[in-house]
Amino acid sequence: MSPVMLEINSIVDVRATIVQTRRISSDVSIITLNCPSVAATAKPGSFVNVKVNTSTQPLLRRPFSIHNVQGNLIEIMVKTIGCGTALFCDTQEGSTVMVLGPLGNCFNIIDHDFNTAILVSGGIGTAPMLFLERTLAAQGKKVINLIGGRTKEDLLAQNLSDCRFSTDDGSMGFKGTVVDMLRNELPDIEHDGTLKIFACGPNPMLKALAKFCNERHIACDLSLESVMGCGIGICYGCSVEINTPDGGIRTILLCREGPVIDAKLLVV
Ligand SMILES: Cc1cc2nc3c(=O)[nH]c(=O)nc-3n(C[C@H](O)[C@H](O)[C@H](O)COP(=O)(O)OP(=O)(O)OC[C@H]3O[C@@H](n4cnc5c(N)ncnc54)[C@H](O)[C@@H]3O)c2cc1C
Ligand code: FES
Repeated sequence: MSPVMLEINSIVDVRATIVQTRRISSDVSIITLNCPSVAATAKPGSFVNVKVNTSTQPLLRRPFSIHNVQGNLIEIMVKTIGCGTALFCDTQEGSTVMVLGPLGNCFNIIDHDFNTAILVSGGIGTAPMLFLERTLAAQGKKVINLIGGRTKEDLLAQNLSDCRFSTDDGSMGFKGTVVDMLRNELPDIEHDGTLKIFACGPNPMLKALAKFCNERHIACDLSLESVMGCGIGICYGCSVEINTPDGGIRTILLCREGPVIDAKLLVV
């Protein structure tokens, strides 16, 4: 890997070598990058903005959650949905890409007094959960994963422990949404003590989950997605409206004040 190209606070823009690309389903790959300076300061929930090739197409970088950190390596779980993600997944091992990060805030795993964490994810929203689970487990927390998808092909449980699955079509696990499964499982899980929920997934899932948690006064962090350009607060492409404590609404830049917000702040 080449030296750091740019450093602002702990955010770096570096050229990182692709060590491995591993396809785990028809449209999802795990890409391992040698990126010591990002690996050293990444936190669960933070993300990187990757220039997937050297040409002008696509011009903009693409944002990805940090899936896992192992020593100098970071792993990214990428679902192919368009040209940027397709190019990234097809990049040869040994090639380099520019990586800007770690960006954004992170899941709040410090301030809350909880002993059980429920990680709720849908589809590619499972990407940040491995890093989060490992960090929580190292703190001695009990971790349960509730993972949802439309069909069993959408379920991504790579290396996660204690996984419970839901599918919309009933092809695997609980038949229904992952929030329905949470409603079903929660009475048993709550016996273990204070809990906190951490979630990432499609917006309708996050809205349903926020409503569920807010009605029950359960602490919940949500990792949101938006279109992003720069990733560092310059382009204003990632504006999202959130609630304010006094009942109003304010606009945040998700790349700076997110991607993680308290569920109470989500406009549902
Ligand atoms: C903070 C953050 C973290 C993310 N983490 C991951 C991750 O870990 N793994 C991963 O695979 N993806 C992740 N994403 C989504 C990823 O950035 C997009 O899928 C990617 O930018 C699409 O690029 P593309 O060139 O392939 O698709 P494009 O050609 O840009 O778009 C193809 C189609 O997908 C739609 N689209 C683009 N971006 C999104 C999006 N974010 N959500 C829904 N539809 C979209 C477009 O409107 C278009 O219809 C994350 C996004 C954010 C903001
Ligand atoms: S992505 Fe440019 S301001 Fe947030």
